Amino acid sequence: MSQNPLIFRGNSNPALAEEIAKRLKLHVGKALVDQFRNEETRIEIGENVRGSEAFVVQSICKAPNGNGVNDALMELILMIDALRRASAGRITAVVPYYGYAKQDKKSKGREPISAKVVANLLQVAGAERIVTLDLHAAQIQGFFDIPVDNLEARPTLCNYLKKEGLCDDAIVVVSPDAGGVHRAELFAKRLNSSLAIVFKRRPEPDVSEVTDIVGHVKGKIAVIVDDMISTGGTLAKAAEAILARGATKVYTVATHGIFAGEAIGVLERSDIERVIITNTIPVDRLEDHPKFVQLSIAQTLADAINRITTNRSISELFIEGEPAVADALPAPVEPVPTAPV
Ligand code: R5P
Repeated sequence: MSQNPLIFRGNSNPALAEEIAKRLKLHVGKALVDQFRNEETRIEIGENVRGSEAFVVQSICKAPNGNGVNDALMELILMIDALRRASAGRITAVVPYYGYAKQDKKSKGREPISAKVVANLLQVAGAERIVTLDLHAAQIQGFFDIPVDNLEARPTLCNYLKKEGLCDDAIVVVSPDAGGVHRAELFAKRLNSSLAIVFKRRPEPDVSEVTDIVGHVKGKIAVIVDDMISTGGTLAKAAEAILARGATKVYTVATHGIFAGEAIGVLERSDIERVIITNTIPVDRLEDHPKFVQLSIAQTLADAINRITTNRSISELFIEGEPAVADALPAPVEPVPTAPV
C-alpha cells in the first residue's frame, strides 16, 4: 500500500478537512459530494485511489450548506463505499464529531441503540479504521470490530486555559454531571487544580436541573468541562448554581459545539464569562459572539493521520508532560500527486 494518504471530505465540515490537509501538506482529494434532484446523496470520487491509504473527514453534524445530520452520515457511508469499490487499499473514517452517540444504550424499553447502528453502517460500508475525538461515551469504541482511535481535545483546551492563566489554585474544574467526572478529573490533573461535581437530572429530554454540588467553589474561578454543548441548558444551569455557591466567575470548555436551537442565545444571556469549544462542528458566524472562542483541532487530527500512515503510536500524543500537540507533528509525508481517474 502507498504510504501517501489521500484526504477526502464530505460537506459537513469542509473548513476542518481543508485545514487538516494543509497541515499535512496535502490537498483534499477530488470528489463530487452532492444530491440528485430527488435529494438522494450523490457521490463520485474524482481521482485514482487504487491501493491508496484513504481518509474521509466528515463530522456527523449539520453542514454549513444547510444539509442535515442524516445527510452527513449518508455522505460518509457512500464515500466509504465508493472508495472501497474503487479499490482503495485502506479506508479510515475520520469523524471529528461522532453524532448519534447519545443513544448508546437502552435506557428504557423500545429504544434503539443508535450509536451501534452507526458503527454497523460504517463497518458494512467498508471503513477499516475510525479516528474520532472525545466520544460521548468511550465504550462506543466497543461497538466496532475495527480499530478506533478516540483522540482527545484535552491538550488543546488545557493549553488555551493555561495561556489564559486559568490553572492551578486560581480555578476549580467542575464536571457538570456525574457522567463527566472522569473527564473533569483528567482536566484537573493537567491543570493542577481541584475538582467539584454538579449533579443534574433531566426531567425530560433536553431539559436539565441542578440537584446538588459536591466540592468547594467559593472564591474560585470555575471551569466547567463537558464533551458537548447541545441546547446549552446543562452549562447555563450549572453556571447559575456554581455562582450562587460563591464562585467568582465561570468559564466553560467543551469539545463539540453543537449549539442546537437557541443554544447560543441561552449561553450569551447566561453569566458564563467565556464558552470555549473546538471546530469539530462548524458554527455559523461565531465571530459575531465575542463570548465564544473556537480552537482548532486540526493539528491533533493531522498528527493522528500522519502517525497512522507511518505506523507510529497515537497514544504518545496524549501522554501528560509530553510536548504540546501542536509541537508534536513529525515531518509531513510527501505530497500526493493528483491523477485523473
Ligand atoms: C451529557 O451527558 C453531555 O455530556 C452534555 O452535558 C449534554 O449533552 C449537554 O446537553 P445540553 O447542552 O443540551 O444541556
